[in-house]
Amino acid sequence: MVGKKVIVTGGTGYIGSHTVVSLMDEGYKVVILDNLVNSSRDTLLGIEQITGASPMFYKVDLCDMTALDAILYAHQDAVAIIHFAALKAVKESVDRPVLYYKNNLLALLNLIEGMQNYGIANFVFSSSATVYGDNDVPFVEGMERKAAVSPYANNKKIGEDILKDTAAVQKDFNAVSLRYFNPIGAHASAQIGEKPNGIPNNLMPFITQTAVGLRKELLVFGNDYDTPDGTALRDYIHVVDLAEAHVKAVARLIHQHQKDNYEVFNLGTGKGRSVLEVIQSFERSSGIKLPYRIVERRAGDIPVMYASTQLANEELGWTARYSLDDMTASAWKWEQKIRQINS
Ligand code: NAD
Ligand code: UFG
Repeated sequence: MVGKKVIVTGGTGYIGSHTVVSLMDEGYKVVILDNLVNSSRDTLLGIEQITGASPMFYKVDLCDMTALDAILYAHQDAVAIIHFAALKAVKESVDRPVLYYKNNLLALLNLIEGMQNYGIANFVFSSSATVYGDNDVPFVEGMERKAAVSPYANNKKIGEDILKDTAAVQKDFNAVSLRYFNPIGAHASAQIGEKPNGIPNNLMPFITQTAVGLRKELLVFGNDYDTPDGTALRDYIHVVDLAEAHVKAVARLIHQHQKDNYEVFNLGTGKGRSVLEVIQSFERSSGIKLPYRIVERRAGDIPVMYASTQLANEELGWTARYSLDDMTASAWKWEQKIRQINS
């Protein structure tokens, strides 16, 4: 893949930055487009520390078609676009639906239109397990997607539909939707990782922030689910595994190995892990006893979700390789690194 160019939107974000590193490790040239609404330029330094090279970077809002068009014109030799850029806070999407629909859907539509303008053929879309809604486990790609539980989830469903409908009529447009389960962890170097704004909603950053003393205790939302220890099950996946799956997806597209010009793959480990298992893993990897307390269930939480990974294993030739302990250890190393910098 030496020298082939890939455009990565949202490339200074959490999953995007790890994917940029995986692409560069494979010899791709990377062009990042990001408006920095939920990330910072410091991420570029982290990427450079790891790879020894700098990706090209444009600070641009994908909703600004004039600016986007000029960039796509300049990079029409790109072999693919990986589209991570989106607003992703589920609760905020409930409070500000117009912001979410506008930002996430307009960005997607502008990109597709720009690809059509310049003949860029291949597209990888960040979708989410949230499109399944409350379904039977394991979640399988062919399942009917249940009603969206938030505007965020609906953004992802509509995004998938836009790609499917476009691919149906435009045979030279090739797209893959990747449905992520619960990405956690950080690059082993601790040069890049997840930096949530404010109080984290998600489990892993809440755990690491509690362990460094930024939060008093972790609240465990419910222990009366029908699961082995009563806490909810999720399919946690190491962000580096996720990043590597994107490289596989790009290779599948550029080598024209697709079975259909629109495809969908789950990205998970196939294992449901409980909240208490994640806490125990964190305690093992950090040597820290985590203060936590069981409280009521969180509204809107699905009791159990995990992926069927068969399709991704067979078709992408990809399997998650990192353990839960690898995930919690790397998340902890990253948290310690950013606290050192900020102290
Ligand atoms: P992130 O917020 O760290 O990264 C998203 C990036 O997109 C940010 O750097 C932000 O500045 C940028 N961005 C947002 N709107 C933009 C716009 N209009 N123009 C240009 N840049 C814009 O999020 P992440 O966790 O890395 O998620 C990446 C993608 O994966 C998102 O589409 C998200 O919905 C999806 N996803 C994430 C998770 C998760 O748990 N993190 C799970 C499933 C799906
Ligand atoms: N949890 C706690 N305490 C906390 C935070 C979370 O007990 O302080 C529990 C939740 O109740 C849930 C589990 O930990 O059982 C995981 O919760 P997260 O908030 O980390 O993740 P979710 O599964 O709720 O949602 C995540 C992303 C969504 C995405 C979804 C599916 O936040 O954007 O995975 O991909 F849609």
